[in-house]
Amino acid sequence: MEATIALLPGDGIGPEVTAAATTVLTTIAHQFNHTFHTSTHLIGGCAIDAHGTALPEETLGACLEADAVLLGAVGGPKWDDPRAAVRPEQGLLGIRKNMGLFANLRPLTIHPALAHASPLKPEKLQGVDLVVVRELTGDVYFGTPRERRQVNGEWQAVDTMIYSEHEIRRVAHTAFKMARGRRQKLTSVDKANVLESSRLWRQVVMELAPEYPDITLEHLLVDAAAMHLITRPASFDVIVTGNLFGDILTDEASVLSGSLGNLPSASLGDSLNRHGRPRGLYEPIHGSAPDIAGKGVANPIGTIGSLALLLRYSLGLEREAAAVETAIYDTLSAGHRTGDLAGEGTRPLNTQEMTAQIVGRLG
Ligand code: IPM
Ligand code: MG
Repeated sequence: MEATIALLPGDGIGPEVTAAATTVLTTIAHQFNHTFHTSTHLIGGCAIDAHGTALPEETLGACLEADAVLLGAVGGPKWDDPRAAVRPEQGLLGIRKNMGLFANLRPLTIHPALAHASPLKPEKLQGVDLVVVRELTGDVYFGTPRERRQVNGEWQAVDTMIYSEHEIRRVAHTAFKMARGRRQKLTSVDKANVLESSRLWRQVVMELAPEYPDITLEHLLVDAAAMHLITRPASFDVIVTGNLFGDILTDEASVLSGSLGNLPSASLGDSLNRHGRPRGLYEPIHGSAPDIAGKGVANPIGTIGSLALLLRYSLGLEREAAAVETAIYDTLSAGHRTGDLAGEGTRPLNTQEMTAQIVGRLG
């Protein structure tokens, strides 16, 4: 097949992990006889430095034309001044919104060889296999008003948590359908005991339930969900929640796998590429990790796993996706670890060495 993939390395460790995934992509192209046309574009802090905006038009245009987009990470201390008018994160949020990517899928499984690296006791991790469907283009992330204002001689700031029925309905459909292909259980997470937007969320999800009689639906308040993720993670199958709660819960869930660096994500919407598949954005769930940026030691697994999701969802290349996931799995089984996962006394592999181990297992 022929496909175009836009690469957005971004900031911090973004370029390092994106380079790792590109090596894997090149290998897959050779082995399975595909032609992938890649192009690289600025986003985030590096785009602010070059163009004064976190999402240059050229970048957005390339993403809207590509079959899929692979992103590293955005942000860093250099652009962190809370008074700054332009912020790296605007690039990421802008691309999600402009591409209409309302559903962010964040799957979590735990490699048995990493169970000891998890903060939970190994027996709690038995059978953990869940996916969070995080709403990605609404909520307090995009609601207006969003501003600072002077009130009674002091500054006040406001953000707006807002959801419309159609926004809830479409992401809930995605989650219900996803549960259908899995263990038929859906947990909807909200804060309906306090928030009006959450009460609408819960109502809309409940109204859809009769369309999915095969799915067992449960509702959890977000504070309880945060606790249950730690006390009974294996009981979850699909979790659907809003943008902010999903952001928080997925960072929490990710460390169960031993490291935030392991986890991939796929963001999908209604827009289709020229293969008739979703034009998605794929990114690791970790951030730009400024503390280790430029050292070449970042864990590439989250990004390489995101590439596997890209091959599966946006290009329909299931065999290739499975090959990448198996190579990651086997590399971990063989005991190879980057610094975030290496125990005391073991020499961690750097990003390139880890990538070489994965690439070597692709054949
Ligand atoms: C994530 C990140 C982003 C988010 C930030 C970088 C804007 O934390 O993808 O989870 O909050 O969505
Ligand atoms: Mg986050």
